[in-house]
Amino acid sequence: MCGIVGYAGLEQAAPILLDGLERLEYRGYDSAGIAVLSEGKGLQLRKTKGRLKVLSALVDGGKALEGRMGIGHTRWATHGEPNDVNSHPHLSQNGQIAVVHNGIIENYLEIKEFLVSKGVHFCSDTDTEVVAQLLEYFCLQNGGNIMAAVYTVLDRIEGAYALGILCKDLPDSFIAARKDAPLLLGYGENCKFIASDVTAIIKHTRDVSYMEDGEVAVVSAGEIKVYDALGQPVEKEHSFIDWDVSAAEKGGYAHFMFKEIMEQPEAVRKTVSPRLKDGRVCFEELSLSEDYIRGLKKIFIVACGSSYHVGVVAKYNMERLLRRPVDVMLASEFRYADPLVDQDTLVIVISQSGETLDTMAALREAKKLGARILSVVNVVGSSIARESDDVLYTWAGPEIAVATTKAYSTQLVLLDMLGLYFADIIGSVSKEEYARLAEELQALPTKMEKVLENTEEIKYLASRYFNHASVFYIGRNLDYALGLEGSLKLKEISYIHSEAYASGELKHGTISLIEDGTLVVALGTYTPLFDKALSNIIEVKARGADIVALTTESRRGDMEKTVENVLTVPDTHIILQPSLGIVPLQLFAYYVALQRGCDIDKPRNLAKSVTVE
Ligand code: F6R
Repeated sequence: MCGIVGYAGLEQAAPILLDGLERLEYRGYDSAGIAVLSEGKGLQLRKTKGRLKVLSALVDGGKALEGRMGIGHTRWATHGEPNDVNSHPHLSQNGQIAVVHNGIIENYLEIKEFLVSKGVHFCSDTDTEVVAQLLEYFCLQNGGNIMAAVYTVLDRIEGAYALGILCKDLPDSFIAARKDAPLLLGYGENCKFIASDVTAIIKHTRDVSYMEDGEVAVVSAGEIKVYDALGQPVEKEHSFIDWDVSAAEKGGYAHFMFKEIMEQPEAVRKTVSPRLKDGRVCFEELSLSEDYIRGLKKIFIVACGSSYHVGVVAKYNMERLLRRPVDVMLASEFRYADPLVDQDTLVIVISQSGETLDTMAALREAKKLGARILSVVNVVGSSIARESDDVLYTWAGPEIAVATTKAYSTQLVLLDMLGLYFADIIGSVSKEEYARLAEELQALPTKMEKVLENTEEIKYLASRYFNHASVFYIGRNLDYALGLEGSLKLKEISYIHSEAYASGELKHGTISLIEDGTLVVALGTYTPLFDKALSNIIEVKARGADIVALTTESRRGDMEKTVENVLTVPDTHIILQPSLGIVPLQLFAYYVALQRGCDIDKPRNLAKSVTVE
């Protein structure tokens, strides 16, 4: 939520900041702003409500601002409506200090009252402005020592923050600080950066380090000095980002989401291949001993949104493979649920971004309770990855569209592989079953490619049903879990009301909503319960529902006896079937949203990485 970028170098800062913000826009797009410092023109600030292109036009692509150092922000509004005044950067009263912020200052009201009592005048309704004003207040108290003021302010504020601070009295450097919100440092030749995410700066440098909680950085063109919470210098470990820059660009596709859907076979291949050798699943990166795995009493999966939906699939699959209890809980619920987790529990945390605040908080809660943490993360070096005992990376590459697709698919397959790996060690899977699953894991990317070759029918169905006001996704067992994700994809990008139900639950209330012309997406890919799924389809059809059914190629004939619109995916091992089933559902959501003229990559009110509670 919210994207921050900062630059100090030899070039004009504004165009570089705008370019960085464009790449961070998926993190929030309610408003945007930049502040640039130059000797001649001083501190210049421009900000505006709306997308980045509005800001870019306002500053003539950056040409209107002069200076070789600056900070920028793209906002997902929390405190204060999205308008010009509440946009970042925020200025202190004397106009000497500009601040950009990602996170929430929880005690901002108390600080605001204190400052107002001292005669400070506030312009905005935001929590961030208190940081700028408090900095000025303590700077004046400290005889103009901005670093001392920064430390005093960091002591006073509570909550989460990644901060960029530009100060008129520091002509050659700006300051960054972090607590519970992501911020990385980028080291180019004669240019240095801060950014919420590497996509903002990868064009300029691949040499980065990740700020830790409590650290403060002083960034100038020539160097970045980092200090810990006590002001002691810190030697940062550097990481090299080996992505291809084009991975974070649209490359001719109309939308990132479509590009990312199409990239799924390759992403799954990259995630599976290094861990499947000679038909055996191996996790060289795992430090869990075989004794620990054999002794496992319980697994708890925590995550949010689509990552949680992966957890729901994984619960079915892991319990089937391991015959041990697997719980799955929304991370936002977990942390306040007094969960039954102890040192005998393995907590699996799933997150694309590795920065989701609720997931991070759940991880910390689980750690406090003594559990061991294994995370499944896409963004290398993210906070969740760094705080886990073990990390399994999904090799999906950068995911830019707000609605996840390739990250979901890679998480799904990785959890299945983990289940198989554990089951083999525990001895709960037969040799034949193991071999069949390994074989199907290998074949999965090719089968996904096959699904992606046949999009015409999905496109046609989307054009037929895009005007429906309400949609229900129904299915049993793994199809229910699949429906949760299919339904979320549709609603988040097309703004159509959509719900997922376990088919068997319909009669317990929801079926009263089915009437003539209600669209029901009926999932029948879980073949062991195909006949029961069919009975549920007949029930909703009898009440007037329009049905789009999804099943496997082997059951197409059976489905077509009842349903006119039938989509199919290749058959695979039952455990892996959702990995194929999700693809047509993603495409259906995409084409429906396209028909409705929605902003597919940046749906309203959303942001890619949810770093507030
Ligand atoms: C939906 C979507 C979100 C994320 C959720 C968790 O398409 O992308 O529901 O899955 O915000 O994000 P991560 O996985 O980054 O923790």
